[in-house]
Amino acid sequence: MSSLPTGIDPAWLPDEVLRDVGSRRVLVRGEGPLADTLRGEVAYACRKFGGAQVTGDASHDLCFDLAEGGDEGPEGFTLERRPGLTMVTAADPAGLLYGWFHVVRLGESAFTTAPAQTHRPAVALRMLDHWDNVSVHPVMGQVERGYAGGSLFWQDGRARGDMARVRAYARLLASCGINALSVNNVNVGPVEARLLTDRIEEVAALADEFRVYGLRVHLCVSFAASMLLGGLDTADPLDERVRAWWREAADRVYAHIPDFGGFVVKADSEGQPGPFAYGRSHADGANLLADALAPHGGTVHWRAFVYNHRQDWRDRTTDRARAAFDHFAPLDGRFRDNAVLQVKHGPVDFQVREPVSPVIGAMPRTRVAVELQVTQEYTGQQRHACALAPMWAEVLGFRPEGEQGPSVGELAASGGLVAVSNAGDDPFWTGHPLAQFNLYAFGRLAWQPDADPGRLLDEWLESTLTPARTDDPERLRAGVRSVLAGSWATYEKYTAPLGVGFMVQPGHHYGPSVDGYEYSPWGTYHFADRDGVGVDRTRATGTGYTGQYAKPWSETYESPETCPDELLLFFHHVPYGHVLHSGKTVVQHIYDTHFEGVEEAEAARELWSSLADLVPEAWHARVAERYEEQVRSAREWRDQVNSYFLRKSGVPDRYGRRIH
Ligand code: GCU
Repeated sequence: MSSLPTGIDPAWLPDEVLRDVGSRRVLVRGEGPLADTLRGEVAYACRKFGGAQVTGDASHDLCFDLAEGGDEGPEGFTLERRPGLTMVTAADPAGLLYGWFHVVRLGESAFTTAPAQTHRPAVALRMLDHWDNVSVHPVMGQVERGYAGGSLFWQDGRARGDMARVRAYARLLASCGINALSVNNVNVGPVEARLLTDRIEEVAALADEFRVYGLRVHLCVSFAASMLLGGLDTADPLDERVRAWWREAADRVYAHIPDFGGFVVKADSEGQPGPFAYGRSHADGANLLADALAPHGGTVHWRAFVYNHRQDWRDRTTDRARAAFDHFAPLDGRFRDNAVLQVKHGPVDFQVREPVSPVIGAMPRTRVAVELQVTQEYTGQQRHACALAPMWAEVLGFRPEGEQGPSVGELAASGGLVAVSNAGDDPFWTGHPLAQFNLYAFGRLAWQPDADPGRLLDEWLESTLTPARTDDPERLRAGVRSVLAGSWATYEKYTAPLGVGFMVQPGHHYGPSVDGYEYSPWGTYHFADRDGVGVDRTRATGTGYTGQYAKPWSETYESPETCPDELLLFFHHVPYGHVLHSGKTVVQHIYDTHFEGVEEAEAARELWSSLADLVPEAWHARVAERYEEQVRSAREWRDQVNSYFLRKSGVPDRYGRRIH
């Protein structure tokens, strides 16, 4: 453990949070690389705050001990207070390290009031996917949908030479519970494809850094690698030469990275190659890679984001929302044990509001991982403050079979919780400093999917806005809490209404364009006309998508009477005068929420500016600049959306506000 590179924001681990542990006499009992990492942490904290790392039977007041026979599992730990001593025990050094970060979070209470407690992650695989490219793409930049500068891993066309920043990132991730990551984009370019073969040493160098904090590295690979890199004339998953090529490829990877996690694959999706070209199924494709990885204990993460991105907008029978279920549900039971189907949480694409993907509950004989998007592609691109934990908590708490059945968080335990990272080489890590909370909250929710998002926000505020950074932590935390707590709801208010989605500018997806995708091949339409708006996905008269859900949802969503307001336009095409459960008409709801959303964004900007004296200057300036842009953009959304619906419907705003 060493200090952060200069100029880099410490995020939720400023040295200050180590004060309570660093002023103690600390004993670590245990061997192995992660126990050494823990010793390094202890040594650093004690150096800063006057404590001491002791050995043998020297007296101590904090002890980390590997205990035989505990039931903490591979990553869990138990914390207990005894007279004059706080004990953390675990069955495995990884548990001790997680226990360390837990004690850091508890601070003084770990030594005074904390009750005995055992923590185990509810989900074994807690993974971040980086959509990073080795090279800089002329349009997308280096990180696809990245809003925080360049890549943390790749620089000047190679793996970064100085790994101090990577090590610091690994530490941040471990401290919130993340234990795996993939280091390159799911859209695998020709340069990135070679990370699997002759450039594997660069991946190995990254894995060396992450391993120190208990994270395993995964790699996105091209399904056509046997052709691109192997010189074969096919990538047919049932061809013996292809199978042999992948086995050798996996063997080589493990020779360099013995604890390699596995492959992530985007196949037959948005132009990426896949098994369809050979008349094979996605199970055949996934199993090819699973078989190559199996001897080494690796896993393939096969993404379910498969749909027709060249559809004809005139064709009303094709529904993009149906695609993943139509492709994958029939394959349930056909995937190997070390193949995980990685499903986006919603059926379309990380919109501010979507129902939960029906695939998640539909494949009991398949390991399923749920994919979230921490990077804010459709939620303000880290120029808008939008704290996503409440949305994720809703998704993770959803029960696909109703109250009696398991939650999404429980179902994800079979394969993992995965998120697209929002971090880059920006000095604040996430571009918008307040977007650090999204990264933190994802890790904590992956560890405990039923954690309360409000509590996570408090946790993050406490560790990020320490007394060393501000004269009045209480006032500052209260201020930031109030700008973040409702920020997802605010964002939803001024963007696409009632679950209809998109309405963004095509390509980069920032800012409003109501009809931007309406006549495009991407399958993301709202079908507004002079009478009404929304997508009829019912069985009775629409695309039949509601039939992909089990009861009760298949019925709840089928009828506009029972469909929740916030999803109404996702499931139904309704007249502008349709009355919501809230008592408002659809069109009046659109007007009201758009005015309110802007007012809320303006209020958040004002509140932030009132905190100027309390926040370190660079932080304050960066957030203030983002709020200017958020307010500008929110007004643009309001005016475009409201004008659009006024012009389409001819229905005036009942309050006579200015609509253009
Ligand atoms: C979105 C995003 C793409 C990304 C894709 C994916 O569509 O806009 O940039 O490649 O998701 O998840 O594969």
